[in-house]
Amino acid sequence: MTTTERPKYGVTQIAQLFPSLKRIKDKSLREKVAAVWNEAITTGCGGKGWTFDQLRAVKFTLLAGDIEMTFVEHLNSCVRQCIAIADVLEKSFRCDIPIQRDYLIAGGLLADVGKPLEFDKDKSGKVIQGTFGQQVRHPFTGVALAYKHGIPGEVMHIIATHSHEGDKVERSIESIIFHHADFVDFDIAKLLGKRAGKK
Ligand SMILES: [Fe+2]
Repeated sequence: MTTTERPKYGVTQIAQLFPSLKRIKDKSLREKVAAVWNEAITTGCGGKGWTFDQLRAVKFTLLAGDIEMTFVEHLNSCVRQCIAIADVLEKSFRCDIPIQRDYLIAGGLLADVGKPLEFDKDKSGKVIQGTFGQQVRHPFTGVALAYKHGIPGEVMHIIATHSHEGDKVERSIESIIFHHADFVDFDIAKLLGKRAGKK
């Protein structure tokens, strides 16, 4: 796809994939998050770009075996968990817990935005981790894309530290919340994948 042929998706289209996008109150941040996703979708898959349908069909994780959850559903699950966790924490802690909701939602939505670049398709059309994806995992490409679009440092921190790459870093409150939500899904998916494999 050349630059001129590439579609341009805004907030409305990206929110069809990720409805929580509309829960970001700051309009400028909402638009920047959509712009980052637009670039990832249209330039990913080894430069071929993804259609929405192709992206919706991508399995949650290539590491979990064959389970009934997709990558898009996983991200939506994580962001919804993050909001639910923030609600509970704010009611449970007697001290003030300074959770920046917009940053939490934006970070949750962008944590895996590098995956459309990490993933490619082999000759048979199967989604695989491409050579580029092996060289530069999605937390790094996610930050690179976010930086280009002026995403705040607090949000880039969540993208950078959400996975194992962040284990040696002191994660922010928002990153701790996302990291755990992410692994709730991931660990359960792995277990289900293992069980399905045994049948
Ligand atoms: Fe991730």
